[in-house]
Amino acid sequence: MKEYKQKNVSDINLEDYLGEYEEPQATADQLFFDCGRRKESLNGAWHYAVDQYDTCIRQHWFEERYQDANGFTLPVDYSFDEWPAMNLPCCWNMEKEAFLLYEGSMVFTRTFRYAPLKEGADGKGERVFLKIGAANYICRVFLNRKYIGMHRGGSTPAYFEITDALQAENRILIQADSTRRPEQVPTENTDWFNYGGIYRDIELIRVPQTFIRRFQIALVPDGTFSKILARVQLSDAGQGTVAVFRIPELGICAEIPVTDGCGEQIIDAKPELWSPENPRLYDVSLTCGEDAVSDVVGFREIRVRGREILLNGSPIYLRGVSCHEESVANGKAPTDKERLETIRLAKEMNCNFMRLAHYPHDERMARLADREGLLLWEEIPVYWAIRFSREGTYEDAENQLKELIFRDWNRASVIIWSVGNENADSDERLEFMKRLADCAHAADETRMVSAACLVSMDKLAIADRLAEYLDIIGLNEYFGWYSPDFAQLPRLFANSDPAKPVIITEFGADAMPGHHGTVQDKGTEEYQAYVYERQAETLRGIDYVKGTTPWILFDFRCPRRTSAIQGYYNRKGLLSPDKTYRKPAFYVLQKYYQELM
Ligand code: GCU
Repeated sequence: MKEYKQKNVSDINLEDYLGEYEEPQATADQLFFDCGRRKESLNGAWHYAVDQYDTCIRQHWFEERYQDANGFTLPVDYSFDEWPAMNLPCCWNMEKEAFLLYEGSMVFTRTFRYAPLKEGADGKGERVFLKIGAANYICRVFLNRKYIGMHRGGSTPAYFEITDALQAENRILIQADSTRRPEQVPTENTDWFNYGGIYRDIELIRVPQTFIRRFQIALVPDGTFSKILARVQLSDAGQGTVAVFRIPELGICAEIPVTDGCGEQIIDAKPELWSPENPRLYDVSLTCGEDAVSDVVGFREIRVRGREILLNGSPIYLRGVSCHEESVANGKAPTDKERLETIRLAKEMNCNFMRLAHYPHDERMARLADREGLLLWEEIPVYWAIRFSREGTYEDAENQLKELIFRDWNRASVIIWSVGNENADSDERLEFMKRLADCAHAADETRMVSAACLVSMDKLAIADRLAEYLDIIGLNEYFGWYSPDFAQLPRLFANSDPAKPVIITEFGADAMPGHHGTVQDKGTEEYQAYVYERQAETLRGIDYVKGTTPWILFDFRCPRRTSAIQGYYNRKGLLSPDKTYRKPAFYVLQKYYQELM
């Protein structure tokens, strides 16, 4: 940690008050496999204060210094347990009308009791971690007057070890800062609403001194569907040991030798294959030393062969739709019921695929998709004009990518990692995103890597240089909306000759629910349906287009959209914001996909 000279913490001097709170950073290296573990929830009522000027950090409120060395009572500007309470996790924007557009810092605090459970075989006690499912964008954790660390990245989990800071009675304080910044990922400019807060579960997780950090299981993607890969990494190298891997339904109980903290085993097996039509799941478990974890997984293989996408060896067309993570009532923290509704509406539209745009959705979405049978595209928010030449920005993007991959590695529904969306083709961008694609391939040899690329309008072709480093090319095109001339769409495809499959990752048009007119009137339901019909009639004839995820399943909040029909919503949804109203284009897409089944 950088040495900072003890400063006169005062507000009257120009000070780099945040510098000493930029490290240590919780990253993918601290993330560990936590499925099947005992978790103690810290969800519930937390006292909070809006902290627009970061006074908590500037004045070190977390130190709770009420007297100076001479016993002089210090005037303080906080009173933790007299603050109002907010039920976490949530997006603060949805909690009070005054907070809807608030962007900046809020400080949350509560107390909790802790008692160690058991001594380990080695006589040492347990280790305890704090897991924050997600906080947008930065969170800083303080426990019992000590600074623990920070996490950046608005949609991926943070794991902080708090073993040595715990007491019987504990005061925890978390600062969440939703400020948009040019150097962040995404930058300050996006086409979605910037929700703030600690909006996914907050939990304590106890593990033994040496614990299972990674547990990765998948069908070996060799086209035989007859081998299961089980991979384990421990929290430290330590002396050699053995892990035991079980899949009771398949009669598997296999030992995995672990050397220098790592081990993997390939086991012959013929599991019933997972697919959207048959989302077959198996209970699996892994024990090693004093640690034990479990999961519920599906076995499937996803590959590309030339211009085809193969699921379990058979060509598949990805009948998809894009969606943001949002509900009218809960913002970026939908309930499981709302997530399930989103999945079921997509399946009602004959989808077998969904693009979770533009950032990692809650891990529960992939678990629901595993169970319900829906293939997923997951994405990090390398969105539009990222600071591609800034190394710190790359590290932020790569960390979010690794946190996403390590978090969802065992999810059968997830078939594609996307490293970005609509980034102008430049040398700096190419280098940045090639590195990300290489990182995704290195972290996971069982999935495809893609990105939502732009059409090269000067060539009227698919000509993004990034395509060379992707397994599947995502393409956003808005002929009939931003690009007026539909006749260009077939020419685009005729001008292109991709060597790999293409997914049209966005097309669409705005339509205010219930707003009617002719097929020439933009913003009407009739015009939106017309765009879908024209898109479908063109796309069905393109042999290298192997999927579509039109933009978008439901209307979503967007500060950039202020016209009369938009009202601070992006209206390209096929459904109203509350997902109760189906626009006619919903049925156009449903019919198009019906024909492809
Ligand atoms: C872009 C972008 C989306 C955006 C959409 C639109 O393609 O990827 O995030 O919402 O277009 O303009 O509606």
